[in-house]
Amino acid sequence: MRFAVRPGGTLRGSAAMPGDKSLSHRALILGAIADGVTRVEGFLEAQDTLATLGAMRALGVGVERSGATLRIDGVGRDGLTRPEGALDFGNSGTGLRLVAGLLAGQAFPTRLIGDESLSRRPMGRIREPLRAMGARIRTSEGGTPPLQMEGAKNLLTGIDYEMPVASAQVKSCLLLAGLYAKGVTRVREPAPSRDHTERMLASFDYPVERAGSCVALEGGHRLRARAIRVPGDLSSAAFFMVGALIGRDSALRLEGVGVNPTRSGVIRILRDMGGRIAVHPARDAAAGEEPVGDLVVHAGELRGIDIAPELVPLAIDEFPALCIAAACASGVTRVRGAAELRVKESDRLEAMARGLRAIGVEARTVADGIDIHGGAIEGGTVDSSGDHRIAMAFAMAGLRSREPVVVEDCANVATSFPCFAGTAAALGLRISQEERG
Ligand code: S3P
Repeated sequence: MRFAVRPGGTLRGSAAMPGDKSLSHRALILGAIADGVTRVEGFLEAQDTLATLGAMRALGVGVERSGATLRIDGVGRDGLTRPEGALDFGNSGTGLRLVAGLLAGQAFPTRLIGDESLSRRPMGRIREPLRAMGARIRTSEGGTPPLQMEGAKNLLTGIDYEMPVASAQVKSCLLLAGLYAKGVTRVREPAPSRDHTERMLASFDYPVERAGSCVALEGGHRLRARAIRVPGDLSSAAFFMVGALIGRDSALRLEGVGVNPTRSGVIRILRDMGGRIAVHPARDAAAGEEPVGDLVVHAGELRGIDIAPELVPLAIDEFPALCIAAACASGVTRVRGAAELRVKESDRLEAMARGLRAIGVEARTVADGIDIHGGAIEGGTVDSSGDHRIAMAFAMAGLRSREPVVVEDCANVATSFPCFAGTAAALGLRISQEERG
């Protein structure tokens, strides 16, 4: 499947975004092992989160879904059962890494697999600390999936772990393993990463201690089921924020989007570039909950900036969209401290640089970043590298290109935002979705 975008569109109107992907995974995982029924509204109906839903069912959890509404019949902390076959997480690194933590201390063995892209992603980052806790876990020789877990019920012990990279997936994996460990599991981050797991655990009445860059929990407590309203996904909203900033005369209202400060670096960065973005709080964060807002975005001139490295983990998924904003800004935008972008669904530094050059924008990568020279966008054909966020980002480039922008290999948009093209077209992007014949 490919996107073809004709130049000259304007984005106007208002839209809600699909449910937050990170929170949808976590709602399933915590709901599964809670006592009682967890009802979820606003669940993300996309391949990544449906893979985690399938995994929970395979582990013996009753999950009923009607559209974006779930009813999860929690089995309690010791109620998961041995699945029949391997658990397949498709494209989802979050699903696989978080569930690996959940399963490290179970009584039964499991095998966790993924698609071609996920099968290239590094798992040593969870294998080593999980082993230090007593888990019996193997990866391929290259440190990638499949993961083979032998089960280690009552054998895990809490550790004090200093993470070499700021990764919410690693942190969450260890905290989930820590639920089943003897004593305290303590994780220290080199820089803040999204804190959804900590917040959601607390909202399930699980005691979590947070102090500065450290989060700690003691194993053995129980989780109490609750109702969860998942806000719109800021990472999906990011494409529309950038589209509204760069599209001539554009103005958008994006409703009910999660604006957790450990996640909303993209808003700070775009504002630093001169972007007109207002956040109207829609729901306050009650204890352990997620703050939600409506984003109002107006088109305007953007300027290139040096993006502060400490903002990188707070906007880690938004760099494809930010690169398109940079391509439309005056001057040079420099990203550094972003080597993690090389181990996402694709090597996003190279995928963005290649794509930008293909549409006439000067871009140069370094080991941990990229320099982008803003200016005119010519248009042309871009390869998404099978990466959903690369595909959606380049679709927005069509708002400012002289010639059409064609993005090849877009089927993976269904991993996070299946109705992206329809939503974008309704708001004014001149996009069509074509099957390659
Ligand atoms: C996520 C954490 C991030 C992010 C991913 C979702 C999460 O990964 O890129 O899309 O839900 O915890 P890292 O923690 O590996 O940076």
